[in-house]
Amino acid sequence: MKAVAVLPALREVRLLDHPAPDLSADTHVRVRTLDVGICGTDREICTFVYGAPPRGESYLVLGHESLGEVVEVGGAVTQFKTGDLVVPSVRRPCPHAHCRPCRAGLQDFCATGDFVERGINQVHGYMTEQYVEEARHLNHVPAGLRHLAVLAEPLTIAEKGLAQAWATQGRLPWACTTPGKPRGHGLRAVVLGAGPIGILGAMKLVLEGFDTWVYSRSPKPNAKAALVESFGARYVSSAGTDAAQLARQVGNIDLVYEAVGHAGVSFALLEMLGQNGIFIFTGIPAPEGHIPVPGPQLMRNIVLKNQAIVGTVNADRAAFEGAIRDLGEFQKRWPAAIRAVISSRHKPDDFRDLLTGHARGIKNVISFE
Ligand code: BGC
Repeated sequence: MKAVAVLPALREVRLLDHPAPDLSADTHVRVRTLDVGICGTDREICTFVYGAPPRGESYLVLGHESLGEVVEVGGAVTQFKTGDLVVPSVRRPCPHAHCRPCRAGLQDFCATGDFVERGINQVHGYMTEQYVEEARHLNHVPAGLRHLAVLAEPLTIAEKGLAQAWATQGRLPWACTTPGKPRGHGLRAVVLGAGPIGILGAMKLVLEGFDTWVYSRSPKPNAKAALVESFGARYVSSAGTDAAQLARQVGNIDLVYEAVGHAGVSFALLEMLGQNGIFIFTGIPAPEGHIPVPGPQLMRNIVLKNQAIVGTVNADRAAFEGAIRDLGEFQKRWPAAIRAVISSRHKPDDFRDLLTGHARGIKNVISFE
């Protein structure tokens, strides 16, 4: 089978021939790949600083944002049938009996660090014609989401981030209880960055009722600003407005959703976080370099304003189910906007430019059909 893979020892990214997988357990499902999204993590793996092939193998098949169609099910699989659309999760649990999160099916919170991740860390990914997976790691997708469901995995980041925000802010009477109003009504959120994670996060925040501001580099007018405004968020460019000016425009910032992966602008916004605010970090910058941070001021704010800071990585089944449900909502409310998040579709042969060339568009997808 055709597969897009990285060979770290040779520092190469290639389209290669990968053996077709077998169903080796009656709980297995064979899936035909339809779409695979490309993200910053894939591009980082292609610079050979992150990710690892399965033990003893020379290459790693890439791809962790995927939509596929079931083509064969094992004898014990009752929840899927041939023709069903599925989105697989990414992380697989560590083997240790004492890892409570993994044993509870919450490997996104793995406590040992010995988890593996499909297409990233020690397990082949989905950028190939077919794969085999345990039924319990697959999520059912309605047929009506055929052209959007490749966005489910990147949306899980927002789903998990927001779930943590609601859990943390359960300390406050935070959710709006006015009948007919969504629970974020009356709260203000700032999204840092207008890439796919930022745009999908902003959609989720608008859906939850937040007054949502997207803060990103490019000055207006630009296509991403127009897209963001088309679903009811506001767009402010950091080119003409610094973090303090943004905070004056927004008012009390209840939530920051960081989706920019850049420490400088993130800490500048952390300084602007409001009373009882929560800051959600999602970006994974390279662990190098130093930036000046106003430590004493940040510490004062965090204490005197009861602030909470959470990091969020990977996602559990609830986040995948929430993402698939919310994609359906986005499609109903903002069909053109959610379609526009997928900026291009390509054949597998176009892999090199997409993975190692100049990044452009919002979400680029490789289609295996
Ligand atoms: C993926 C996550 C993964 C993380 C770290 C992200 O791009 O969406 O599933 O946990 O990278 O490897």
